Amino acid sequence: MILRHGHPADLPFLFEVCHRTGHNGLDASEVVSDRLLLGYYFAAPYVVRDPHWCWTAVDEQGVAGYLVATPDSRAFAGWMNSHWLPTVRSLYPQTENPARSATETWIRNTIHDAAGVPDFVDGYPAHLHIDFLPRAQGQGLGTKLIGAFLDQLRSEGVPGFHLGVGLENTKAQAFYAKQGFQEIRKAPGVLFLGLKL
Ligand SMILES: CC(C)(COP(=O)(O)OP(=O)(O)OC[C@H]1O[C@@H](n2cnc3c(N)ncnc32)[C@H](O)[C@@H]1OP(=O)(O)O)[C@@H](O)C(=O)NCCC(=O)NCCS
Repeated sequence: MILRHGHPADLPFLFEVCHRTGHNGLDASEVVSDRLLLGYYFAAPYVVRDPHWCWTAVDEQGVAGYLVATPDSRAFAGWMNSHWLPTVRSLYPQTENPARSATETWIRNTIHDAAGVPDFVDGYPAHLHIDFLPRAQGQGLGTKLIGAFLDQLRSEGVPGFHLGVGLENTKAQAFYAKQGFQEIRKAPGVLFLGLKL
């Protein structure tokens, strides 16, 4: 497995990895019918805006995992609102569909909401998402990408970062605990973790 910075050429894989890990760490196919939807919010915009803050794990089958991040969540949310979400909204117009799962309804509505930042963002200005396909899990790759991310935060003087993890995603929570991440806040359905550097 090769670890390297992300690149826009990785995008089709990022969409796929995001979908296949998007339901509390497991394949989201049962709850989200559209395989691109999650990636349009949680993976693709990061590598389009700033590949320097994205890393991928690549083997002979392609990208098997990624860490996507931004050093400045407030600026990122501004860019989402001005440059990214308007076009994504035009691809996913708001229509009623009672057959949709609560998860799919939530992500479709989220795309139509203004992107924002949590009120603790000034202390933890960066944020990240990290996902590996099953074939790449449990081999220390997540630990290595977190290490690369932390090194870059330090070298560029970013004072802290946060992330959100689903309350039901206990495996990822165990991984984050091992990395030494600390609880910032518990909110409905999500636990915010982070670190000040
Ligand atoms: C969570 C995830 C990013 C961890 O990355 P990883 O490369 O698999 O983790 P590592 O191999 O670096 O594990 C490091 C340590 O984390 C802990 N850990 C990792 N996966 C774990 C699991 N499934 N259960 C319990 N502990 C786990 C272990 O303590 C492990 O140390 P060890 O190898 O000495 O036992 C990865 O498994 C993943 O992408 N999962 C699916 C998607 C997901 O849930 N993403 C997070 C969304 S918020």
